[in-house]
Amino acid sequence: MNTHTNYGVDAPGVLAGLTVGGIAELALAAVLFGVGWPILAAVLLIGGVMLVAGAALFAHTTLRGKFQIWDTELNRLGLRGDERVLDLGCGRGLVLLKAAARVPRGRVTGVDLWTRDQSGNSQEATWANARAEGVADRVELVTADMRDLPFESATFDLVVASLAIHNIPDDDGRAEAVREAFRVLKPDGRLRLADFRHAREYAAVLRECGAADVQIYDLGWRFWYGGPHARTAMVACRRP
Ligand SMILES: C[S@@+](CC[C@H](N)C(=O)[O-])C[C@H]1O[C@@H](n2cnc3c(N)ncnc32)[C@H](O)[C@@H]1O
Repeated sequence: MNTHTNYGVDAPGVLAGLTVGGIAELALAAVLFGVGWPILAAVLLIGGVMLVAGAALFAHTTLRGKFQIWDTELNRLGLRGDERVLDLGCGRGLVLLKAAARVPRGRVTGVDLWTRDQSGNSQEATWANARAEGVADRVELVTADMRDLPFESATFDLVVASLAIHNIPDDDGRAEAVREAFRVLKPDGRLRLADFRHAREYAAVLRECGAADVQIYDLGWRFWYGGPHARTAMVACRRP
């Protein structure tokens, strides 16, 4: 990331809720201590500390932790530099543009509906980041639903998604998105889906599709959205 980029904040409403709720509980705990209700005050104090700690972890993940994890994950792929990459729900381009930097002779495509699940989400914001990162020449942005991708089968060497597929509320819709991600992969192409829910569901769909080397692994505390209850896992596979 350079100083002219801005990748926004994931689920800004959740972060605001944790922060405001935590501060409110701490303030109320102070008042209750003052008026001589120490047990209730202690309960609120513990709750407030947990919410504020959750907010701090969430902020760290969305502003820093996920950047570090995706650097590691993309480096581990050992890209040649001429691949075609697709990022599903690319938002303001964090993973998309990290991939673009690793494929100087390739092309990266970001698909999104530009919802409010990321602050300041828009194609213009993603283009501004692409220019600031110096990779705009190899970026393509497409407004589309990941359940119905406007690409030929077997187009991409690598398909990624970060914290995007869980936004689809129903099981069938998420399965459709995972099937679409697999469909557009070239033979020997690789898939990396990071999400804080539904990893086993995605892996089961990929096995049904005939994916090889399907794995689920935990991405560690730097990818926790507020605590261990919202930890992110990676679903990885290869198209035979
Ligand atoms: C939490 S943001 C993550 C953005 C980006 N992957 C990142 O890690 O910074 C989730 C993104 O998924 C997009 N999204 C949600 N549902 C979608 C759908 N059905 N098709 C395409 N994009 C979708 C949202 O607009 C949003 O940009």
